[in-house]
Amino acid sequence: MVAAPRGANRRKLMRHQAFPHGVTRDTLLDWFRATRARTRRLFEQLAPEAYYERPIPLRNPFVFYEGHIPAFAVNTLLKLALKRGGIDERLETLFARGIDPESEAAMKNPADVWPSRDDVQAYAAEADALVERALAEERLDDDTVPHLRGGEAAFTIIEHELMHQETLMYMVAAMPKEGGRPVRPPQADETSALQIKIPAGRATLGMPRDSAFGWDNELPELVVDVDAFEIDARNVTNGEYLEFVEATGAKAPHFWTRENEAWLRRGVFETSALPLDAPVYVTHDEASAYARWKGARLPSEAEYHRAAFGTPAGDERLYPWGDEPPDATRGNFDFASWDPVAAGSYPAGMSAWGVHDLIGNGWEWTSSVFDGFPGFAPMPSYLQYSADFFDNAHYVMKGASPVTPRELVRRSFRNWFRPNYPFVFATFRCAR
Ligand code: AVJ
Ligand code: FE
Repeated sequence: MVAAPRGANRRKLMRHQAFPHGVTRDTLLDWFRATRARTRRLFEQLAPEAYYERPIPLRNPFVFYEGHIPAFAVNTLLKLALKRGGIDERLETLFARGIDPESEAAMKNPADVWPSRDDVQAYAAEADALVERALAEERLDDDTVPHLRGGEAAFTIIEHELMHQETLMYMVAAMPKEGGRPVRPPQADETSALQIKIPAGRATLGMPRDSAFGWDNELPELVVDVDAFEIDARNVTNGEYLEFVEATGAKAPHFWTRENEAWLRRGVFETSALPLDAPVYVTHDEASAYARWKGARLPSEAEYHRAAFGTPAGDERLYPWGDEPPDATRGNFDFASWDPVAAGSYPAGMSAWGVHDLIGNGWEWTSSVFDGFPGFAPMPSYLQYSADFFDNAHYVMKGASPVTPRELVRRSFRNWFRPNYPFVFATFRCAR
């Protein structure tokens, strides 16, 4: 359940569940550098003219994220946890936070005065050098300092960046693009259309404190008794959602556009013919409306856990496919592709009940309102990370999208958004 960096150091970190046992400075340093390098590659994909654009009105422009990621590392690891100085107080305030505000008026930086790209990149280079030095030399695990328990701050800055790699991709996906290029829709696995009966049983959400790094909302462990229910073996596809749109006049999802009487999918980088067999990306509101139309409902977070990690024998596993670490055969995640592929394309990633794509090919909306588990405590390295969103206005998403880094693929990981937020790479399946 521990985060797993790529490359030579991966095995070491996977074998040992808790930091600092078995996690070396080299591991963290390599992981930090690899994460920075991918962020740089993702930013290189962006047309330079787009740098000050704000493709999602309630999010900051791209420039913010190029500064936010390094500034968050400075604010969290250097200043808060290690009590060192920062680099530039003004930039570290400007770039401190900027997620999911309630309205455009509530945006932190309405003035829209952002530094030049050169200044942002110069700041980032300085920040990277300081953070690397801290990772190489400072004491990162110290039970007497709340921010350093189990290496919390070091994990926090790296996983924070990994989450923003996905943010970046859905900002890119929201940019206007030229007309589509038709592609042949991929073919789905025939057996994936089944509905699966899951008997009553237990689901273990979250993870025990001090077992490995987890964000505050993943702690502590919570065991839930789940009643019997039925769940679709695969996600609702674009083709199925199209029937709903045509039958009810429901609004087309954000990721669809229409051109010359044909429906197209707005992918991250390309618009193409709507792939009828791929999961549909929708809001929680749209997912719930579709499910109601079908006489069904969304699964709860605990039901998702039962379907994903439970087994007919009654035990629970780390991943849908078993306890082996995630790899490219198990699902469409970790940048395997930019966009969803046909539902049911990864039989090697099926759960013990035969449920497809529980990890990858789109986050899964649940019916559960985002909240802390009993015993929740805000994490010292980022007090507002979750608690700010325990407002009855956000719903839990589970699983992963095509562009969720593999280190975030773990059973306890929880994502959340507002029910009408249309930009995230989120799909759903029906339960009854
Ligand atoms: C957990 C993905 C909902 O991006 O809004 C990044 C993660 N929090 N910086 C978000 C986050 C602060 C958060 N989500
Ligand atoms: Fe952030």
